[in-house]
Amino acid sequence: MNIDTIDFANIKLSDEIGEGTFGKVYKAQWRNKCVAVKRIYLNVNEEYVEREFKQLSRANHINIIFLHGISIHEDIHYLIMEYADGGSLFNFLHKVPRLEYSLNHVINWALQAAKGAAYLHSMTPHSVIHRDLKPHNMLLHDKRSCLKICDFGTVRYMSSMMTKNSGTAAYMAPEVFNGERYTTKCDVFSWSITMWELQSRKVPYEAISPELAVCQKVDKEGLRPPMSQLIFDCPEDIQKLMTDGWQADPNKRPSMNDIIEVLNKYPIDVDQLKL
Ligand code: ADE
Repeated sequence: MNIDTIDFANIKLSDEIGEGTFGKVYKAQWRNKCVAVKRIYLNVNEEYVEREFKQLSRANHINIIFLHGISIHEDIHYLIMEYADGGSLFNFLHKVPRLEYSLNHVINWALQAAKGAAYLHSMTPHSVIHRDLKPHNMLLHDKRSCLKICDFGTVRYMSSMMTKNSGTAAYMAPEVFNGERYTTKCDVFSWSITMWELQSRKVPYEAISPELAVCQKVDKEGLRPPMSQLIFDCPEDIQKLMTDGWQADPNKRPSMNDIIEVLNKYPIDVDQLKL
């Protein structure tokens, strides 16, 4: 399957809505639709761009930001994506206005992130591994009741991400930052750190810098976020998913489907989700 190429002339760019590691994101209109347009400003290898985007363009799931297509204008690549109206989960958690949320929201967001990742992991002929799951890459939609994973195409450029100090290290499984072979279980590690962030409303290892020091402590000293900072009374089996999920040995981590199975035991009150 090929990625749709979109004529840049049909895209009406408006406000800048974010800046990721690899490019600015704009709100835009395309075919009477509100879309998000990401301008890839690195001089990235086109073959890589194509390969990554091909995988993403096949993904069609409510918890994954949909990629409408790609546009090229004056040698610059633009990704034309589904627009999520609630901003990132990271901004929601840590920036003003700090709206209150409940355990119902925590379980809902954690479950939706797991469903999006499980979908990627189940894709054929190859599972897709996100490799950079974190609240910055989870967008909220529909009054923050729906969570959508974004930011795939660029995760290959790990070294440049790390040197940009992009706040990635805390979420990254040791086998990934060590450059070892990794599997879908690296996304489970990232999910676990995100789950801790949802339950603590704190940025993981905020006091530790630079990023390399975080990697070292996580890898060599077995550092993990403290349970003492959790502010929600989460059921024990969910806490166990989180602490099993950030084990150093990927084989000891649950799968995304295991996570979904446990979270599904807790009914979500859908009438109380919109914020
Ligand atoms: N920021 C980055 N990507 C976005 C998207 N698809 N929708 C809204 N805001 C975004």
